[in-house]
This record gives sequence, C-alpha cells and structure tokens, in this order.
Amino acid sequence: MGGRGLILGIESSCDETAAAVVERGSRTLSSVVASQIATHARYGGVVPELASREHLRAIVPVVRAALSEAGIALGDLDAIAVTAGPGLAGALLVGVTYAKALAFGQGLPLVAVNHLEGHIHAVLLHELEAETQSLLLDSLAQNDCAEDGKAALALVVSGGHTHLYLAHATRGTWSYRLVGRTVDDAAGEAFDKVAKLLGFGYPGGPWIDALARFGNPKAVPFAFSQIKTKLHLAGKIPRTKGARTAPIAELDPHLLFSFSGIKTAVLRYAEVHELRAEAQARASQLFAPGAIPRPPQSHQQALALCSQQVLDLIASFQCAVVGDLMKKSFAAAETLGARRILVTGGVAANRELRARFSAESARRGLRVAFPTLALSTDNAAMIAAAAWPRFLAGDFADGTLSGDPSLVLGR
Ligand code: KG4
Ligand code: ZN
Repeated sequence: MGGRGLILGIESSCDETAAAVVERGSRTLSSVVASQIATHARYGGVVPELASREHLRAIVPVVRAALSEAGIALGDLDAIAVTAGPGLAGALLVGVTYAKALAFGQGLPLVAVNHLEGHIHAVLLHELEAETQSLLLDSLAQNDCAEDGKAALALVVSGGHTHLYLAHATRGTWSYRLVGRTVDDAAGEAFDKVAKLLGFGYPGGPWIDALARFGNPKAVPFAFSQIKTKLHLAGKIPRTKGARTAPIAELDPHLLFSFSGIKTAVLRYAEVHELRAEAQARASQLFAPGAIPRPPQSHQQALALCSQQVLDLIASFQCAVVGDLMKKSFAAAETLGARRILVTGGVAANRELRARFSAESARRGLRVAFPTLALSTDNAAMIAAAAWPRFLAGDFADGTLSGDPSLVLGR
C-alpha cells in the first residue's frame, strides 16, 4: 500500500476502455482513454459484442499506460476503483473482472463506482483541480452542514442518460436524489440518431455541434410536446433502455425529458424536404474506404458537406434540445432551491449548451460548472475521483462484485 491516496480507476461501461490514476480524489496523475469509435463508426452505433472484444484487447495496455504516465507502480496504489454499472453487460464484465483480479492479486481494496456518479465527479474533480485545494475543501466543509438549499443540481446528459439529480455532500459523503429523467431516448442518443439519419458519422454529437454553428436556429420551429405529462398522469411506466425502471410516476412531470419525438420530427422534415438522398450520398462519401471524416471548422467547409437547408435543420434541432435541457434544469434548480448546477456527460461538451447554460446561470445568479472537455465524455479519472470519498469511508466491494447493467444511482 502506498499511502499517498492513489486510486487507479478503470472504466469499460460502453465504448471507451479507460484507466487513470488520481491522487486523493483531486489531482489527476494520468488519464488514458482507448476509444473504439473507429470500430463502431461504420455501424452507426455501438455494437455490444464488438465493444466487449475491444475492451478485452485494450484493458491491459491501457492500465499499464495509466500507471506509467503517472510514474507509479502497482505497489504505490492504495485502492482500485471500477465502474460497476450502468452500461453494457459484457463491457462492464471486462473491467470488473480485471479490477477484481488486480485488487485481489495486489491485496488492495476495491471500490465499486456508479458510472453516473463518476460523471458528476468529473465536474467536482475539475473544480478541485481548478481552484486551490484548500479553498474548495473549505466550501465542501460548508456543504457538510448544508441544508437542502445548498445542494447542487446535477444534469447528467450523455449517450445513455439524461438524468437530473440533487447532489448533496455531508461530511465528505455524497448522496443523490433522482429528480428528473428522460422517459425514452437520452439527449446524446438523439444527437447520434439525427446525425446518422442526415448521413454524418458516429458519434453524432460532435458533428451536430460543429455544423450547427453555421445554420439558422430559428429556421425550423421544433417544439417539445406534453406527452410526458400525459404519460405521467396515466401512471404508465415508459420503456427505457439500461437503467432499472425508476419511479417515474413519483417524479415531477415538468422534470421529465423525452427526445424520441424530436428525432422523428427531424426525420419527417428531412423526408418532406427531400434531404434524404443528399444524406445518403454524404454518408457514402464520408465513409468511403480510407476516408477520415472530420467535422468542419468553417462555413465554407460545412457547405462543402451539406446544403444550407441541412445546416438550418441541424441548428434548429440543437437549439431546441439545448433549450429543453435548460428549461427543465433551471426549473429543477429553482423548485429545489439549488444555487449551483453541475452539467456533465458527453453532451456537456456541446458548445451551444455550455454558452447558454453559462449565460442563463449568470442571469439568475447561479453557479454553473462543467467538466473539462476531455472529462465530459467517458474516462476513468472521474471513476477514481468518485471512489475517493468511498475509500475514506471504507465502503469497499468484495469478491462477489459483478457488473450491473441497470445499476441505479441514488434514491
Ligand atoms: O458520456 P459519454 O461519453 O458516454 C455515455 O455515457 O453515453 O457520451 C457520449 C455521447 C454521445 O451520444 C455523443 O454524441 C455525445 O455524448 N457528445 C456530444 C458532443 N460530444 C459528445 N453531444 C453534443 N455535442 C458534443 N460536442
Ligand atoms: Zn458516460
């Protein structure tokens, strides 16, 4: 055992194999991510069997690289942390099995981390690294005796989740209450599906983000309907991928998201305006053998890829999604009295989202924080950071730990 408070984090819940070493939950010594994008891109989404195979290939070199970049040996570690869920069953199994074997072999404690808690800690880790540690520890100490009013509202918005939590720190231990969520697709899933139907690559978020800058966000007036309220009132539990069914009927209907409708609306618009043929031609051009597709940097480059009408459609879609995320996040913060908002997950890398959340928070006198761009998408530094309070509390997993694809965060 090292005694420096070094935790090796391991993440393999979806399509990134990641390992990182974080000191005392607040200083990243290394963060290595092996992306499988190239493997899945040609299928337009993550293929679970391929993901497991790629994790098996990558896990040993990725962990070795994380240790070597941190300049430490296995013997310097104090604990190993691993994502236990939610995620793809086979993908989680690779990380969990490897972490268990490593912990057992080294005689180290093992900490199981919920992937969503990891995303929330990506923001906290960034804050800890950005501010002087002592300053932040002071503010955490103030949080210790925080009433509900001092809790933070966390929006986790990724390819698999769009969840709102009220996050609370009491004597360094974090607790979470689910206050809102999507009843169908996650926001990132909508970005990916819209990009795919318009002939752009996987993952679609970075493409939409880059192209939306050159379109008119007011061109297509997308609206979010009240289906969710009706659903809620009818007491129906909607189908959701992944997460075990949370008690949607107990959540405030104004804090429920639904992104499957807007994806269908974009599809209809593309069909009615005969944009699909253009999209198909683009897809075959972008994914031609040997092509390395990159999102455009200028309006000219964007117009070389698609028509202004497609750029307007993309800008309108993104503007509507970001608007809906904001509307419900700020409503939740106001209702629950949270003065601080944490926005995290892959979609938190989106430029329009960051700009508009920042502007609206400033207008309302709230604090908003995001992870660094690198820590917005899946990584293992967030897993090691989330494990630190659990490590201090002696909250360890035993040899029976297995990956849980539907692991729920909070109550
Ligand atoms: O957090 P993440 O890496 O994995 C999950 O836990 O799902 O999030 C991946 C998602 C994908 O849907 C991807 O399209 C989206 O995040 N994403 C973005 C951006 N970068 C990644 N969405 C919008 N704008 C971006 N710049
Ligand atoms: Zn994630």
